[in-house]
Amino acid sequence: MKPAPKTFAVKSFGCQMNAYDGDRMAELMTAQGLTAADPASADLVVLNTCHIREKATEKVYSDIGRIRKDAGKLGRAPMIAIAGCVAQAEGAEIVRRAGVDVVVGPQAYHNLPDLVAKAARGESALDTDMPVETKFAHLPGRRRVGPSAFLTVQEGCDKFCTYCVVPYTRGAEVSRPRGQIVDEAKALVDAGARELTLLGQNVNAWEDGARGLHHLIAELDKIEGLARIRYTTSHPNDMAQGLIDAHRDVGKLMPFLHLPVQSGSDRILKAMNRSHSRDSYLRLLERVVAARPDIALSGDFIVGFPGETDADFAETLSLIDAVGYAQAFSFKYSPRPGTPAAGMADQVEPHVMDERLQQLQAALNRDQAAFNANTFGRSCQVLIERKGKLPGQMLGKSPWLQSVHLLTDAPIGALVEVDIVRGDPNSLSGVERIKIAA
Ligand code: 5AD
Ligand code: SF4
Repeated sequence: MKPAPKTFAVKSFGCQMNAYDGDRMAELMTAQGLTAADPASADLVVLNTCHIREKATEKVYSDIGRIRKDAGKLGRAPMIAIAGCVAQAEGAEIVRRAGVDVVVGPQAYHNLPDLVAKAARGESALDTDMPVETKFAHLPGRRRVGPSAFLTVQEGCDKFCTYCVVPYTRGAEVSRPRGQIVDEAKALVDAGARELTLLGQNVNAWEDGARGLHHLIAELDKIEGLARIRYTTSHPNDMAQGLIDAHRDVGKLMPFLHLPVQSGSDRILKAMNRSHSRDSYLRLLERVVAARPDIALSGDFIVGFPGETDADFAETLSLIDAVGYAQAFSFKYSPRPGTPAAGMADQVEPHVMDERLQQLQAALNRDQAAFNANTFGRSCQVLIERKGKLPGQMLGKSPWLQSVHLLTDAPIGALVEVDIVRGDPNSLSGVERIKIAA
């Protein structure tokens, strides 16, 4: 038994959806009267975990050990709650192995206050249910946020790529109701957001009856005070023509598309159960570029999926050459417990994976540098997000999601018209023209 906590800290790992969930859990605890604190001194530490890749579970156990040790030095023993996808996947095993106080899955964290109260009474506090009735209805309203805010509109995945744990940890595809999303979007704008990134494991599978994501985007476009809309992550098979057209027609929708492909080899795509081919992906991107010629493209890649040969990998490199990504993420394949690929023959040797990852990242870095260099001489709007390191310097984002440094007295949250005077591999430098809005 531990006394009911008065202070809390939430540490989130992994994807943007986890970051969003972490913020919402923090809001939930604040609404209960708890105060945010440093993890070392908090009465309650929530670890919001990620299960997508490599040694996720082991990392959680060592994090728990570290938290206990750091707090122990201060003579404290905080209540520990494990949330997120490892909580969902491991469940009671975490309580058995690490004796934590609370385990709560990603679809049940609206119950965190109840679980904390149970733990304080010395009762077992585990909830990994995936109720049909969504948690969102039970969360408190949004208060203060930065200029760029996340908004979860869809969760879960029905695609069952053979390497991926998401369908098991986050459950089936569910769309949040439109009215609830629009209300939250307005609340976020009132709380200071100028840019909203709509989140979902398959965000472009969002639906409201026959209406798809582009209808939602068109509705959000009307919100006064909102300047920019983004969305992530999309699946190639849910990329409706209406959404592609929105990149041409909707003023606030930014010219950026994150569309994971994972591999350039049809044989591997099939083994991954991706249900698109190299060619259908490339043709899809052609349509996107036709609608919005300046669009920045991004993707995800996995190297070393079981059975991947040098020839398969060469196809991935040639796909990268064909697309010319503005940025992308790449990962070594990691067998996830309970997924079909984990049991497949021909697992690729670690040193081969290492070499392929290096080659792939060299190609992606080359293309990112070229894309940034290409922005040199352009002018664009930059959303100011925070202070830079130098005096008078601010940092913001271009429409193409590049970081831009500039000297300006415009405040955080301002949109500034900027001439790009440098395009470095990882960021841009700009010079302010006229202030459009503060
Ligand atoms: N191993 C490596 N990368 C993975 N991803 C998902 N599952 C795995 C895995 N088992 C990557 C995919 C996905 C991104 C979010 O994480 O590229 O798009
Ligand atoms: Fe995982 Fe594939 Fe679903 Fe993405 S689409 S979450 S990679 S199963």
